[in-house]
Amino acid sequence: MTFEEELKLRTEEADEIIKYYLPQEEGLHKTLLQAVNYGVSSGGKRLRPILMNETFKLFDGKSRVIEPFMAGIEYIHASSLIHDDLPCMDNDEYRRGKKSTWAVYGEAMGTLAGDALLMYALETAAKGLSENTSSPANVAQAMGVLAQKAGISGMIGGQSVDVELTGKELTGDVLRFIYELKTGALLEAAMMCGAILADASAEDVQTCEKIARLVGLAFQIRDDILDVTSTQEALGRPVGSDEKNQKTTFVSLYGLERAEQAVEAFSNEAITKLHQLTGENRFLESLLLSLIKREK
Ligand code: IPE
Ligand code: IPE
Ligand code: MG
Ligand code: MG
Ligand code: MG
Repeated sequence: MTFEEELKLRTEEADEIIKYYLPQEEGLHKTLLQAVNYGVSSGGKRLRPILMNETFKLFDGKSRVIEPFMAGIEYIHASSLIHDDLPCMDNDEYRRGKKSTWAVYGEAMGTLAGDALLMYALETAAKGLSENTSSPANVAQAMGVLAQKAGISGMIGGQSVDVELTGKELTGDVLRFIYELKTGALLEAAMMCGAILADASAEDVQTCEKIARLVGLAFQIRDDILDVTSTQEALGRPVGSDEKNQKTTFVSLYGLERAEQAVEAFSNEAITKLHQLTGENRFLESLLLSLIKREK
């Protein structure tokens, strides 16, 4: 199987798991549920659940405890995108080739759908307890990591600084802080949860955190590059969003060429660290390499 074929398979597998745990669209609060399901809907790369599952496999994890966690982390990611697109944030009307959640359901429902998804992510992950195939202590630890990396000292913390410093000139250090939190933290959670649920050692879990932090930097810088060089058709969301919002990005600070070099350097550093782990997963290595030149 080629890497592309395997990635397609892994994406379909993740899509199915993500869909399986979604709520039924029924009850008086049906509109909220429709907005939630719309926000999670297809078109995403499903990178975080795939990364989680591949890390789980690297450490020889075999049970289905990983599945509710794969769904959970994608729900957190979807919640971050729904809120990120709101008029009070990046004010973007398209996401994954379709109207943004707020553009279809309104701002209030968009806000609530993002909130609901954050809680539903943990509600879903907790279902890992009934799989009784990983120790309850591992499930509890992984849930703690998910919450921490999504919240104050993770993705939301990063988004808060991103928003607060919009329009301001930033130093490279502040930019790195923002990227490590707003984008890196959820990738860290993905790899760390995969490792924890496979009962990896504390040292390996920590190495996973470091690897994912580097992947996160590369991933966000590539995102900044695509915001300048891509098209809405290819990306499924508006390009030029950063300039519109007067965001300082790695590209606006250092230029395209240095940005491309940085993506490659951070990714290679991540792969060097990947080799320090106890297990091996060639697909995971190819996946990290493929992100350097990703087009969407
Ligand atoms: C976009 O994430 C937001 C960032 C953190 C840069 P993705 O590029 O993973 O978006 P989808 O899930 O594939 O749509
Ligand atoms: C957002 O960064 C990161 C999130 C936590 C959602 P961006 O604002 O650059 O993400 P896109 O480009 O809209 O996907
Ligand atoms: Mg943003
Ligand atoms: Mg945005
Ligand atoms: Mg962007």
